[in-house]
Amino acid sequence: HGEDLEKLTNECKELLLSLPKEKGWRTPYIYKYQGFWCQPQEIQAIISFQKHFQPRDTDVILASIPKSGTTWLKALSFAIMNRKQFAISSNNHPLLASNPHDLVPFFEYKLYANKQVPDLSKLPDPRLFATHVPFSSLQDSIKKSNCRIIYICRNPFDTFISSWIFSNKLRSENVPPLALEETFKMYCKGLVGFGPFWDHMLGYWKESLEKPDKVLFLKYEDMKEDVTFYLKKIAKFLGCPFSMEEEKEGVVEGIARLCSFEKMKDLEVNKTGKSIKNFENKHLFRKGEVGDWVNYLSPSMVKQLSQLAEEKLGGSGIEF
Ligand code: A3P
Repeated sequence: HGEDLEKLTNECKELLLSLPKEKGWRTPYIYKYQGFWCQPQEIQAIISFQKHFQPRDTDVILASIPKSGTTWLKALSFAIMNRKQFAISSNNHPLLASNPHDLVPFFEYKLYANKQVPDLSKLPDPRLFATHVPFSSLQDSIKKSNCRIIYICRNPFDTFISSWIFSNKLRSENVPPLALEETFKMYCKGLVGFGPFWDHMLGYWKESLEKPDKVLFLKYEDMKEDVTFYLKKIAKFLGCPFSMEEEKEGVVEGIARLCSFEKMKDLEVNKTGKSIKNFENKHLFRKGEVGDWVNYLSPSMVKQLSQLAEEKLGGSGIEF
């Protein structure tokens, strides 16, 4: 079955025995590690990441809960940070040949997965990484360093639908499809990878209020509405603002186009390649719209999730 417990270290197997567990979406169980839910393989990789990763002040870490626009944020940030080396209009831009997940690796799915402890010291500055780990579980060295974090979140309605459809595509053939109602109940209980979603959002949100130079908090919906505004904001946050010259030359719009949903979805690498574990890249590009949830959620589900969001996030300043 999808869990592959055999491949875990003894240390991790032992830890799992002590953790609360519930039925997972795609795996028999998900476990509550440090207050968030995840799969055994992920826990093992996260522990290794927490133990071994040495941040540098120049590092940039992209953070999100799954299905919030991670792929897009990776593409945009990569294009911004590397624009001197890779001209946006170049036919050889890496984003035309590689999926963003190959250019900006996750700590937990790539770098520290499968018992690896990579040597990241040789990577040139500034290094660009990504994670789904909640803020509270990032190691102190990251919190104390001057490395920068960009967080993207998305309204829970669309995030849920995107996750549900994605999980159904990834499930192995011998597993029955995930029923919408049951999965929705799990989501509302916080039972989703790296959830509860409200804790995930609040952790990064609070830090962004306290340390706005360290954490930039972005929303998918805002970015869909005005991507060039947010591209400038990201570039400024990262200490590499666009020059007047660049703005005049249309570099900002060029990045927006290069990273647009339509452009990326149509690339050969994103139609046929695989980047995260064994997932096909094509599943990462579904609709890329705001509000697609209206086509799936019943009025009572909408009511329930609205109330939950109000209860958990109301008054925080996070609004959708
Ligand atoms: P939908 O399933 O609603 O279409 P993540 O990258 O965190 O896995 O999030 C996936 C969601 O982002 C999917 O939403 C996907 O279609 C959308 N997406 C992927 N690439 C995008 C892009 N370049 N611009 C906007 N949205 C994008």
